[in-house]
Amino acid sequence: MNLRTVAITGAVALGASLMIFALSLDTRLLGDQSGYKPAQPIPYSHALHAGELKIDCLFCHTAAETSRHAGIPPLSTCMKCHETVTNKAGTPLGKSDPSPEIQKLRETYTSGRGFEWVRIHRLPAYVEFPHSRHIQAGVACQSCHGEVQGMERVEQAKALTMGECLTCHREENQKQQLAGRLPQAPADCSACHH
Ligand code: HEC
Ligand code: HEC
Ligand code: HEC
Ligand code: HEC
Ligand code: HEC
Repeated sequence: MNLRTVAITGAVALGASLMIFALSLDTRLLGDQSGYKPAQPIPYSHALHAGELKIDCLFCHTAAETSRHAGIPPLSTCMKCHETVTNKAGTPLGKSDPSPEIQKLRETYTSGRGFEWVRIHRLPAYVEFPHSRHIQAGVACQSCHGEVQGMERVEQAKALTMGECLTCHREENQKQQLAGRLPQAPADCSACHH
């Protein structure tokens, strides 16, 4: 072995062990986004709508069951209620007197525009994540997004690292095998990286 080969193999080994080290720590080398909690154009509250009012997640995020993205609902979904619901309970305004936030919602809807919601969760472009397969398999939204039904403002609850994906896949497959079924959650690189 000459000096050059030693240097190259050394660099590769070092790179590989750094990568294994990083993955085993569950770190996200591109920057951990957990805790990201941006303000939205209107203070829409999941704690109120999905928590107190118990509106089903899929009532608004309909696409989660059938496609890659869960999607953000159009304002027509909000207007199903806010044609008539004008205020917070207990506010002194009359029924036909919408609160400033509902006024803003109605005007934005009537003008044909939408809100520019700030995207919170986003994987790097080289990762494939299909919502549909997970929802169809009965994986709860909360196992990846945390207790959204308690959030006034949505916050990224988990780092969504490769380590997190693989840990759950391993556990799910063990459960399937114990139940005598074929494992479905992939561990091969190409399933998540095309
Ligand atoms: C009445 C409609 C409605 C319901 C019900 C609802 N959501 Fe949402 N959701 C929205 C809207 C609007 C946004 C975009 C604004 C925001 O982030 O708060 C959103 C954003 C989100 C986001 C962040 C998306 C991003 O940018 O990364 C997640 C995650 C989410 N919802 C999960 C849930 C879960 C889980 C439930 C059920 C517990 C739920 N939602 C129920 C309307 C709804
Ligand atoms: C199933 C019915 C329903 C849907 C769908 C719904 N809301 Fe609401 N929303 C309500 C009710 C009821 C209240 C008032 C709660 C109370 O009495 O305090 C409310 C309250 C609000 C408030 C607070 C109003 C204030 O006076 O401060 C905002 C903002 C709001 N909703 C936005 C939205 C947006 C944006 C959507 C769509 C993404 C949406 N809502 C969808 C039923 C709904
Ligand atoms: C197995 C983990 C997992 C589960 C379960 C899950 N999500 Fe997600 N969700 C993610 C990841 C990862 C992203 C970012 C995806 C990307 O950037 O391609 C995301 C993004 C989102 C977004 C914003 C972007 C988009 O895809 O539209 C919304 C809204 C959302 N999820 C809602 C939900 C709801 C509602 C449920 C339950 C019905 C749910 N998620 C279940 C992991 C999950
Ligand atoms: C809480 C558990 C859980 C987490 C976290 C999770 N998954 Fe999964 N995933 C599953 C299960 C269960 C399946 C098998 C679904 C089935 O039975 O079809 C699956 C299947 C998949 C598939 C196979 C889809 C297909 O078409 O074959 C892909 C790709 C995938 N997951 C990507 C991801 C990625 C990327 C992440 C991390 C951002 C992730 N998963 C996080 C539970 C999880
Ligand atoms: C279940 C889905 C899944 C599988 C299987 C998977 N990955 Fe990933 N991978 C991810 C996600 C999600 C990210 C982005 C988040 C992160 O950096 O942890 C990622 C990131 C990466 C990165 C970039 C690391 C960085 O932070 O720059 C590399 C390199 C990588 N994966 C290689 C692989 C290899 C090699 C395999 C096969 C041994 C593999 N992945 C299998 C989901 C997966």
